[in-house]
Amino acid sequence: MKDEFSWSDNDEIIVPSFNIISSAQACIYNKLKPVFVDCENETWNIDVNKIEQVITPKTRGIIVVHIYGLPSDTDKILDLAKKYNLKIIEDAAQAHGMTYNGKMREFQ
Ligand SMILES: Cc1ncc(COP(=O)(O)O)c(C=O)c1O
Repeated sequence: MKDEFSWSDNDEIIVPSFNIISSAQACIYNKLKPVFVDCENETWNIDVNKIEQVITPKTRGIIVVHIYGLPSDTDKILDLAKKYNLKIIEDAAQAHGMTYNGKMREFQ
């Protein structure tokens, strides 16, 4: 994505603070800066109410992780992505069979 969208070194990607190392590692491997956002007590997923406060002119995307099969608040994250022109990368490694808004989620 970095090449595809002409992102620069040290551009910022928002990642949940609770996850295995993969999401942060993917950023660092690509010379992007992972910016951690705290997670919710109820789902352990990224707290969507804390995302906006870390968005800067260098923010390019959000890695959304659905931890332990519990869905992140994807609708709100998509709204933020639209508002700030951010790309969404979903980590669905723990999302097999997950439902969201009463429907089975499909991932590309
Ligand atoms: C949330 C999450 N993301 C990614 C991965 C895959 O990580 P990796 O490809 O580094 O083994 C896992 C594996 O358990 C995971 O739980």
